[in-house]
Amino acid sequence: MNTEIQFQPEQASTLAPRVDALYYYLTGVSVFMTLLIATLIVFFAIRYRRGNKVDRSPLDLRYQKWMEVIWIAVPLVIVLSFFGWGAWLYLEQARPPLGALEIQVTGKQWMWKFQHPQGNSEINDLHVPVGRPIKLTMISEDVIHSMYFPAFRVKHDVLPGRYTGLWFEATRTGQYHLFCAEYCGAGHAVMKGTVTVMEPSDYEAWLSGRVPDQTPVEAGKALFEEMRCASCHQGGGTQGRGPSLVNLFGKEVRLKDGRTVIANEEYLRESILTPAAKVVVGYEPIMPTFQGQISEEGVRDLIAYIKSLAESAPTGEEP
Ligand code: CUA
Repeated sequence: MNTEIQFQPEQASTLAPRVDALYYYLTGVSVFMTLLIATLIVFFAIRYRRGNKVDRSPLDLRYQKWMEVIWIAVPLVIVLSFFGWGAWLYLEQARPPLGALEIQVTGKQWMWKFQHPQGNSEINDLHVPVGRPIKLTMISEDVIHSMYFPAFRVKHDVLPGRYTGLWFEATRTGQYHLFCAEYCGAGHAVMKGTVTVMEPSDYEAWLSGRVPDQTPVEAGKALFEEMRCASCHQGGGTQGRGPSLVNLFGKEVRLKDGRTVIANEEYLRESILTPAAKVVVGYEPIMPTFQGQISEEGVRDLIAYIKSLAESAPTGEEP
């Protein structure tokens, strides 16, 4: 922490200086406009006060037209610059770069759970390597939370029943705050933690220094067997009572009602929890719901496992 007065939290991500630049621009324009208008109000109030002998005849009609044009065009350009710059930055932060390191996040009253692709998991602490895009895929076990990293200038709501995402690339090693930014009950204030940004070699050492739990794919495979999913979804070309899951992820699926959907994470999640919502053409809605029987983490592990069935295939590479 430095001693000078800080108007902003530290800038510790690639996005931070860009968000701040927009922020300063918005603030600068607002301050300039406020001062301009306030000054003119005072100036005119004094100059045109009652009894002051000044010229009060109306402006020449030609000038009036140009004044109209100017005070429509100039503010229009300014507000469009707000929109353009803001939209550009929004799209940048909404689209994680390819090859980002994906970390799974589960929010619940009142803690954050993080799971790394190698299987390590941690609570309220997040370790990430510097200089590498990190993508967080987030879901809530209960109410709406919001993941907020002030030093990275990113924040996104974490919702029950739906995946949301967020990405950042840290530019400086060190420890930074992470907060829940959505009031979520009595323990909201304690739902915070620390993100530790490390050199990539330190991150590797940190990963291997812990006994990794099962990877999501391994845990998903175990759950898949435990829930007897294979008795219907055995795949491998043989026609089971349920459609094959091999090579499914990312593909188009034709449904009984004629619609076509993409087999993404939302679709898989829905098909596990509410199987009757989207029935694949050629199959009967006989699958029982697994709502309440599998935790959000379990659903995610199953999806990771189903994705791994797609990755092993020669075609249909997913980024
Ligand atoms: Cu979780 Cu506030």
